[in-house]
Amino acid sequence: METKIRKVFITGGCGFVGSYLARELLKQGFELLLFDAFINFIDPFESNYQFFLKARMDGLRDKVRIERGDIRVQKRMQQLMNEWLPDATIHLAALPSAKESTLYPTEALQINVDGTLSVLEGVKACGSVKRFIFTSSSFVYGNFKRDIADEEHPTEPIDVYGGTKLTGEILTRAYAKQHGFEYVIVRPSAVYGFGDCNRRVTQIMIENAMRGKPLVLHGGGRSRIDFTYVTDLAGGFARALTAPAAANETFNVTRGNARSVREFALEVKKHFPSAELIEKPSDTSRPERGTLSIEKARKLLGYDPKVDIEQGVAEYVAQLKARGPK
Ligand SMILES: NC(=O)c1ccc[n+]([C@@H]2O[C@H](COP(=O)([O-])OP(=O)(O)OC[C@H]3O[C@@H](n4cnc5c(N)ncnc54)[C@H](O)[C@@H]3O)[C@@H](O)[C@H]2O)c1
Repeated sequence: METKIRKVFITGGCGFVGSYLARELLKQGFELLLFDAFINFIDPFESNYQFFLKARMDGLRDKVRIERGDIRVQKRMQQLMNEWLPDATIHLAALPSAKESTLYPTEALQINVDGTLSVLEGVKACGSVKRFIFTSSSFVYGNFKRDIADEEHPTEPIDVYGGTKLTGEILTRAYAKQHGFEYVIVRPSAVYGFGDCNRRVTQIMIENAMRGKPLVLHGGGRSRIDFTYVTDLAGGFARALTAPAAANETFNVTRGNARSVREFALEVKKHFPSAELIEKPSDTSRPERGTLSIEKARKLLGYDPKVDIEQGVAEYVAQLKARGPK
């Protein structure tokens, strides 16, 4: 039997992933409260944050409840949870990237660890939450020791971001066990699509190509990454919310097929044939990654990602051309 869930409290719900997840859950008939501090860690002269925020929330704002608040400030969040009494909480709010977590380690710790603790305290105190979903990352694995990493792969993060996400996982399991609610841990990887403004490699490449700037390949673009299209991830979260077999489990939720950064760049070049590819030295601060096994998610969640980079890049480019900043 599916866990009965109707009202879902989503931290970071107005972010890139949150906005796609909100659309998916609305389609499925859930009632949503998006709790968000509206924070972005990219240079404000570069990020176009307000533009992308508005584009993401287009058509959503009148269908959900949106509350401004910071997960680190317990009182406000607690009041909302006690009053609204959610059946489930999906915790997406974070300092969401490795590069910026290394730049701002104290904030990464405050938001990703103290903030997660604060959300868990809120869930514990309000007493209505049956299932808590924590958004982790493939960065918890550190350097992949095997070509394909399943959920049993050792978790040995090599940076602040991976460390904070692993700590969040540990706190999630401890609170769920001690206070009697179900948890699900979701580990995404390299999510891409229209609306992202965290200047990840995917966004940078496509926007550079659109502006006639070169596409930079560190280390020849040989790194292999499990690029995941955002609608596939949103579908995975939706399954994690209700699938009975998801309870108290950890899942890789990715495309399940790593592609090289060079392949991604060549895909972008198909849409911008004059784009120039240039090489720079390897970026040794990032873990060596690869494919994440999604067999467990397929089996227990019925997760079935559909979008390869060929289709994902085409959709991303089309949307940026139609709806992106001019
Ligand atoms: N996008 C990816 O490639 C990727 C990969 C793995 C994991 N993740 C995780 O997925 C989640 C969502 O990432 P995203 O790409 O949508 O990032 P995003 O920056 O677009 O969304 C994060 C949202 O959290 C909000 N937020 C940040 N700090 C907050 C705070 N203190 N209180 C309340 N709200 C706060 C932001 O305002 C933003 O709306 C994050 O937890 C991230 O670590 C993302």
